[in-house]
Amino acid sequence: MTVTAVIGSQWGDEGKGKVVDYLAEQVDYVARFNGGNNAGHTVINEFGTFKIHLVPSGIFAKNTVGLIGGGVVIDPAVLIEEIEMLNKAGVGVDGRFWISPRSHLIMPYHKILDGLYEEAKGAGATGTTRRGIGPVFADKVSYNGIRWTDFTSDVFENRLKVQLELKNKIIVALGGEVLNYESVRDEYRGYYLKLKPYIKELFSLVQDGLKANKHFLLEQAMGTFLDTDWGTYPFVTASTTIPSAASAGLGIPPRYITNVVGVTKAYTTRVGAGPLPTEILDTKSAEYEQFGEVAATTGRIRRVGWLDLEIVKTAAQLSGVTELCLTKLDTLSGLENLQVCVGYKMNGVDVRYADVDAYGLDKVEKIYQTVAGWKEDISKARSFEALPVNAQNYVKMIEEASGVPVKWIGVGPERDATIRR
Ligand code: GDP
Ligand code: IMO
Ligand code: MG
Repeated sequence: MTVTAVIGSQWGDEGKGKVVDYLAEQVDYVARFNGGNNAGHTVINEFGTFKIHLVPSGIFAKNTVGLIGGGVVIDPAVLIEEIEMLNKAGVGVDGRFWISPRSHLIMPYHKILDGLYEEAKGAGATGTTRRGIGPVFADKVSYNGIRWTDFTSDVFENRLKVQLELKNKIIVALGGEVLNYESVRDEYRGYYLKLKPYIKELFSLVQDGLKANKHFLLEQAMGTFLDTDWGTYPFVTASTTIPSAASAGLGIPPRYITNVVGVTKAYTTRVGAGPLPTEILDTKSAEYEQFGEVAATTGRIRRVGWLDLEIVKTAAQLSGVTELCLTKLDTLSGLENLQVCVGYKMNGVDVRYADVDAYGLDKVEKIYQTVAGWKEDISKARSFEALPVNAQNYVKMIEEASGVPVKWIGVGPERDATIRR
């Protein structure tokens, strides 16, 4: 039995989708346990190119069973569309994909409130995906949520009535438009009927799998530094993103987690507001051009920065990362020199990430080391030895700083553009 959590060690979008798709061949179960459809995971394989928001990225491996744990929040319209899209692409999810009835639903008022709160905060806004994530998790922990189990009786209708009374008052006060009870009820009843064949309590399934020594892959959404507690609060997301979240979010006892893969981009990106210590602000620079990405969920331009080893090391320590998967090493090709942040100082004194809050992190002095880059295109390399020496040194530098071996190296977005060491 192995239970491997795949987590992002930066601010999300490290390439978790590709890595989970790559590792899924070897496992029996692939599961999402946190976040919601704020996630956008890119998978490129023999079925095509996908931006997946809810279904686990390992679903393409024919022998895997996909699970959405109770810790995930679901916009049903997005999930229905995703299931249809995957089935149309020939992936065939029916009979091997299950949704926990404990998962909470993103309701129309969550999305409206997400937008209204962001607008009210003005310059201090978080830059959310506006998918309703903050409001739905707030409702979950304040006992105002709606779950799939509620649809098996009149609980759904009763709870929706109360919630609409409350939420409509807030929406109107903030200048939004009132939601109609009957139309929301009918819309969501319709979603329930469509998704009902996939809704199943996961407790026995997970317990039986553990007992039968099956292999599990747990796909985190977001990244370590978007975690509500350990991220750059308040510029974070509303769910726990470190592997411990898999315990509550899927029902896996913590001591059963055997491996933690830290997916680390060879540089750094961030979407939305909040500190990004190594941010590259010169939009005319070669590195800015090369690192540029478009967000998989919202289509926003991702902010970019140099690799920050203090961030990678903190993530490794916090989550007990057992092996790193370095992604996008190919993207660095052609740059003469690379800057790598090896630590921070505050008022002349060494500080760790955990010593400062988000506002402090914005002000820390970065200690950079300049390392030599490489000119060669490495996208065809399939062994560590085939990489230019300077690329090998870059990998070794990450291993030394984090204390964790780099087991996989991504040299392209496709599944097989991966070096295994
Ligand atoms: P996720 O949210 O962690 O799954 O990451 P995203 O899919 O949002 O963003 C990662 C981006 O990097 C996507 O466009 C991927 O296709 C791409 N990607 C992942 N690994 C590699 C790699 O090794 N090389 C290159 N060039 N692109 C990669
Ligand atoms: P994946 O799983 C990158 C960011 C948003 C915003 C903050 C809060 O693809 O790595 P939210 O909508 O969650 O309330 O927004 O979190 N964010 C992500 N950034 N990748 C993600 O997911 C993200 N999910 C949320 O940009 O700054
Ligand atoms: Mg993403």
